[in-house]
Amino acid sequence: MAEFTLPSNSKIKKKGREHKAAAGAKRVKRFSIYRYDPDSGENPRMDSYEIDLDETGPMVLDALIKIKSELDPTLTFRRSCREGICGSCSMNMEGKNGLACTSAIEDYSGDIRITPLPHMEVIKDLVPDFTHFYAQYASIEPWLKTKTPTPSGERLQSPDDRAKLDGLYECILCACCSTSCPSYWWNSDRFLGPAILLQAYRWLADSRDEMTGERLDQLEDPFRLYRCHTIMNCANACPKGLNPAKAIAETKKMLFERAV
Ligand code: SF4
Ligand code: SF4
Ligand code: FES
Repeated sequence: MAEFTLPSNSKIKKKGREHKAAAGAKRVKRFSIYRYDPDSGENPRMDSYEIDLDETGPMVLDALIKIKSELDPTLTFRRSCREGICGSCSMNMEGKNGLACTSAIEDYSGDIRITPLPHMEVIKDLVPDFTHFYAQYASIEPWLKTKTPTPSGERLQSPDDRAKLDGLYECILCACCSTSCPSYWWNSDRFLGPAILLQAYRWLADSRDEMTGERLDQLEDPFRLYRCHTIMNCANACPKGLNPAKAIAETKKMLFERAV
């Protein structure tokens, strides 16, 4: 259900804490980071941390790890691979969703403001609650579904059919696209959003899957699929260069073609 103002306990009310760079630091960069601790009973705040860029790695995630290791162990964020593969470190940097591990500090000219992915419940600091997102992912049954007997070897696929999965299989479920989609902001309870719809199309496009009709039946719904209004924020936000809006358009085309 759409909410147009933040609940009062979610508003950033007070000035946060400031952590100054060490004396003698030459290339100082300031990171302004959203802090929220549900156990404190306090509203969120923005803390600032000054880092000497000569003493940290080149990526935003390097700076976050340095802050946590050396300045403030209470800072909480997700990360795992540091290679843009696991999707854990998705967050909003200077107003744009992306992966902290593939975002270079030098690409930001001034201070860097970092907040959690927008329009998701925050568990702590930069960690959003993905429970609903993963439940939506599970709802599309993201695995190969077949009706024919299991063959003795692999289910084969021609190189041309395999190529139809390019631009789909690379999705790392980071949610940068869904949390930049206005339709998902207002209707995430019923609209699946671009990430999950791209994943749904990944199975529709797979020549080995034998449940295409059933999958289309599940998607044919005014909210689950048709809340996409082709605003294209999703394609602009994807750090892997994927185009969920195109996958959604292909799904709508499949539904149209089976109806005529
Ligand atoms: S194209 Fe559709 S899914 Fe993508 S941002 Fe726009 S409304 Fe959302
Ligand atoms: S389509 Fe791109 S932005 Fe969306 S979840 Fe997949 S990798 Fe992330
Ligand atoms: S840490 Fe895995 S994508 Fe950034």
